[in-house]
Amino acid sequence: MTQTDRDPLSLEERASLTSGRDTWHTEEVRDVPAITLADGPHGVRRQRKGSGDALGLTDSVPATCFPPAVALGSSWDADLARRVGAALAREASALGADVLLGPGVNIKRSPLCGRNFEYFSEDPHVSGVMGAALVAGIQSRGIGACVKHFAVNNQETDRMRISADVDEQTLREIYLPAFEHIVRTAAPSMVMCSYNKINGVYASENHWLLTEVLRGEWGFEGAVVSDWGAVNDRAAALAAGLDLEMPPTRTDHEIVAAVRAGRLDEDAVTRAADRVLALAGRVRDAERFDGWDVDEHHELAREAARGSIVLLKNDGVLPLEDPGRVAVVGELARTPRYQGHGSSHVVPTRLDGAWDALRERTGATFAAGYRLDGEPDASLAAEAVTAASAADVAVVFLGLPDQAESEGFDRTSIDLPAVQTDLLRRVAGVCPRVVVVLANGGVVSVAEWQDAAGAVLEGWLPGQAGGSAIADILTGAHSPSGRLTETIPNRLADVPSHLHFPGADGRVVYGEGRFVGYRYYDTLGRDVAYPFGHGLSYTRFEYSDLDARETGRNEWAVEVTVTNAGDRTAHEVVQLYVAFDEELPTRPRHELRGFAKIELAPGERSRVRFALTGRDVAQWSPARGDWRVDAGAFTVEVGASSRDIRLRAELATPGDGHVAALGRMSTLGEWLDHPVGSRVLKSRLRGADGFTSGGSPALLALARGIPLAKFSTFGIGLSGDVVDELVAAVRSES
Ligand code: BGC
Repeated sequence: MTQTDRDPLSLEERASLTSGRDTWHTEEVRDVPAITLADGPHGVRRQRKGSGDALGLTDSVPATCFPPAVALGSSWDADLARRVGAALAREASALGADVLLGPGVNIKRSPLCGRNFEYFSEDPHVSGVMGAALVAGIQSRGIGACVKHFAVNNQETDRMRISADVDEQTLREIYLPAFEHIVRTAAPSMVMCSYNKINGVYASENHWLLTEVLRGEWGFEGAVVSDWGAVNDRAAALAAGLDLEMPPTRTDHEIVAAVRAGRLDEDAVTRAADRVLALAGRVRDAERFDGWDVDEHHELAREAARGSIVLLKNDGVLPLEDPGRVAVVGELARTPRYQGHGSSHVVPTRLDGAWDALRERTGATFAAGYRLDGEPDASLAAEAVTAASAADVAVVFLGLPDQAESEGFDRTSIDLPAVQTDLLRRVAGVCPRVVVVLANGGVVSVAEWQDAAGAVLEGWLPGQAGGSAIADILTGAHSPSGRLTETIPNRLADVPSHLHFPGADGRVVYGEGRFVGYRYYDTLGRDVAYPFGHGLSYTRFEYSDLDARETGRNEWAVEVTVTNAGDRTAHEVVQLYVAFDEELPTRPRHELRGFAKIELAPGERSRVRFALTGRDVAQWSPARGDWRVDAGAFTVEVGASSRDIRLRAELATPGDGHVAALGRMSTLGEWLDHPVGSRVLKSRLRGADGFTSGGSPALLALARGIPLAKFSTFGIGLSGDVVDELVAAVRSES
């Protein structure tokens, strides 16, 4: 029995537990230890003692910088994410942290979002599965994970005030499911609410979000912490379901006063304090580690980077197995970009540059070619062109400047610096074989320049071991196995949210609704540079023997055989989409519902299995406030990207059995389609049969759209009383 069990905490003590002691710790109350929190998400950012403010972002103790989420997500490898999570937890523990502030699972609504490098995908399924795996890994060692930023924080512009105005169906189908999946399957210790408002209400004060949905519907049992400084009205936040304000605003006395004045329910304070207490109890019991094997974690960071690199295009120049003379061009090969700026910035334990790794393996020469600040430098460019002209193959490293991607602001363009693309054209003019390696967190446009390269490798921001991982892929020591979790558009103007991003006057309207990323491009058949799910390999995979069958009511099993038909061991990411073919689309044409990353030796085959449930074919019904499954056919698609579907099978769902209640304002069509309604209508309304079957098709189509109550105005004898009788009859017979 603890001291606090014997002698209940006073209101003052409980209030103090709901706000931190300082930037990184909760309050210590009696024998309740303080909880230490640290960023997150791709490495432990434990600020040095004395640099306790939230802005001392780059002054932290060295820790392994694993690939940021943009890269880890592109691995589509949940097991890898779990192992990275476990390694992160070990480091967090060794550095004295109890909770790691990650993962971030916000949806990439626009490529411009400055923090896209910290997020997994434009797709909620990938985000949810990868996020849950990371949480499971972190928590496997007793360290708490904190999923962020809940919710609808999809831009940095005006992030502390903006209202994300988004309809509920879009929220439920796009912006909330990753959080939902993680909460339901991985039980994170904490959820961090975002800065922004959702439909006019701050996330930190949003009762619907923090209490009704998060706890009521999804069963979250951990603690909700504010993003750093996201609380505006602490009493309102506690009432809404926020448990911990970070960093503290030293307003505990106001909370006590609000309770005493009857403005805040004391239970809200008690509930929040209890959740912080429960978390403190859990982390107190966690196993502690003294340190970690720096080499081993670096190797894991390299494996993770390797698994996430995406080969966008290859005319055969890669792999560089017997390349002849290789010229490495581009300052980014020597001064790597491997993470973005902001609170996730980690001081790495070591750093691999691609140039060093390539020199060792291929004897390559090097020319910087351009300055990282984007200023033109004619002599650097000329040197690089000379080096390339003497080479059999030029590997040109291009990417966004270091200062382009950060928390706190968004990009305004997706183009690479002109000095880099100009240099690429000149190199391509003198060297017959050109490979481009990209370094960027948010996607960059490739359409303008990619014809100058025989191969393009998307290296992302790959963490501290990225340089050697890139060399592993370029030289063919490993086959590329990353896949895009975000569409690369041809132009920024093609992005579905383009006209609605980043909003103005404090509001950003999510006008594209559910049609985010491939859900838009594939529904409308728009050209893209590279589709969602895309990524090449050095081998070839064949898909065969698709079997899709019903296993229960609204349950299906899908199996497919995948064979490595090439001559080297490699990974494939098998993707499962559920598709709805509609003449006029009312929903995304298809949506990812499963994926599996498998490794196959040459000639090896594997049977990959997926399970689908009613939720996978459901849509959110705002009218019912629930998921709705309509009876009908659907297609399962299995393939290697959203545009490379190899096999299809038809299935059908009986629906969810829900029959909408009929009323006066239900249309004639709704009455006729209703099992009881059509009988009642036809039996009570003489002539209804003739009207519905004998009339002209155009007239019937017209009439079907008219609410029953409106027929009285058309003088066809359907008075208000008759409509009332019909409604009463259908209700009594249903
Ligand atoms: C970021 C969070 C981060 C927190 C603490 C905030 O500015 O949005 O992601 O965990 O700071 O550094």
